[in-house]
Amino acid sequence: MQLFLDTTDVGVLKDLAATGLVDGVTTNPTLIAKSGRPMLEVIAEICDLVEGPVSAEVAATDVAGMLAEGEKLAAIASNVVVKVPLTRDGLIAVQEFAVQGIQTNVTLCFSAAQALLAAKAGASYISPFVGRLDDHGADGMELISEIRAIYDNFDFDTEILAASIRTPAHVTAAALAGSDCATIPPDVFAALFKHPLTEKGLSQFLADWAKTGQSIL
Ligand code: G3P
Repeated sequence: MQLFLDTTDVGVLKDLAATGLVDGVTTNPTLIAKSGRPMLEVIAEICDLVEGPVSAEVAATDVAGMLAEGEKLAAIASNVVVKVPLTRDGLIAVQEFAVQGIQTNVTLCFSAAQALLAAKAGASYISPFVGRLDDHGADGMELISEIRAIYDNFDFDTEILAASIRTPAHVTAAALAGSDCATIPPDVFAALFKHPLTEKGLSQFLADWAKTGQSIL
């Protein structure tokens, strides 16, 4: 399972990328706005920090505009993945990007039917928004399972990128549901390492080791 960070905070990205466990990054217009930085600049910096895929989202909603913006974003670095909203025009643009060999991440997916169309359009990734469905009383993880079943039924190459992740439990559930990837807010990613019993057990090991008076080196 590939684990991406959902962030434009390059300081936090550098810290977590140092674990060697960050496979890529996703961004969106809200995260770009939060960065307070020019989009092309922050995407270029992120692409230098990670070797894996970096999703950069178009702002246009018409086919011609998405294609023009997407081509400009793809030219930033070889690991840019052009993020496109799951709309009629978005899926038309995805088909053209596929012809051009530009990787795409189709975002704002909230139904299995939408995901089916995205795979037929040749999307590289599909981003079902788990947390936002949960926020509306639906079962976001059920959508991941449905998409997994459909994609396996027809051997689609599109990779499922579980998005709108809110908790470590979401990451585990997405992995169990067969999602290829998850994009995770930095605070949730940092929480993945932690368990109170690990911390308690380590403290006990260290206390008992200290009693031996020994040194390994
Ligand atoms: O960036 C895509 C997605 O992960 C954002 O989800 O609900 O946290 O805005 P959300």
